[in-house]
Amino acid sequence: MIPLVEAPIEQYCREHSTAPSALLQELEAYTIAHCAQSQMLTGPVEGALLRLLVQLTGARRILELGMFTGYSALSMAEALPADGKILSCDVDPQTTAIARSFFDRSPHGGKIEIRLGPALDTLAALESGREFDLVFMDADKENYIAYYDAVLPRLRPGGLVIADNVLWSGAVLHPQQQSDHAIVAFNTHVQLDPRVENVMLSVRDGVMLARKR
Ligand SMILES: C[S@@+](CC[C@H](N)C(=O)[O-])C[C@H]1O[C@@H](n2cnc3c(N)ncnc32)[C@H](O)[C@@H]1O
Repeated sequence: MIPLVEAPIEQYCREHSTAPSALLQELEAYTIAHCAQSQMLTGPVEGALLRLLVQLTGARRILELGMFTGYSALSMAEALPADGKILSCDVDPQTTAIARSFFDRSPHGGKIEIRLGPALDTLAALESGREFDLVFMDADKENYIAYYDAVLPRLRPGGLVIADNVLWSGAVLHPQQQSDHAIVAFNTHVQLDPRVENVMLSVRDGVMLARKR
């Protein structure tokens, strides 16, 4: 897993990226103080990347798989125009309640709709024809290929899939656990997919960007 102590090079990246809002800083501190597995939170550098990608793509309709305490959702919501929307999925009612309490304090929180339940069920129940401009995948890694194949038909041409943790703390080089193999299989799946143009970034724990042709 991602180490809790920030490496000097990560700190340097953070110091040279646009700072998060005061509410995001508070959410990060709250999550670290109160939540097990607080290292799951995307954090300031990836949050800044997500904000930029939302703005650069002009996304208005975002789907998020894996919300946790809401850091990535709120980061993207802050970058969306006033009529932009995020549909965010998670299975954990406790972290979802924390996320909701922070969204309620943000002028951008109204852009985020939460769906509690397994993301594959949420995807299967979506209205036919519902499309997204950008999808951020950050839920359970074993389902990454299933998520990707479910969301790609709902992505508009030119839309972007962003998948987090694609380096899996380096385990992709020597996979042993089931989740290691799942990430390796996902990365190969995207790399071989003629429907997209993709790049793997070594930001934080690895971020795959795949643009639908
Ligand atoms: C890495 S965390 C997400 C971090 C979040 N994007 C952030 O920036 O703080 C992964 C989340 O996926 C959720 N999750 C796990 N399995 C899931 C599933 N089957 N469907 C939806 N969410 C799931 C977990 O409850 C957890 O909150």
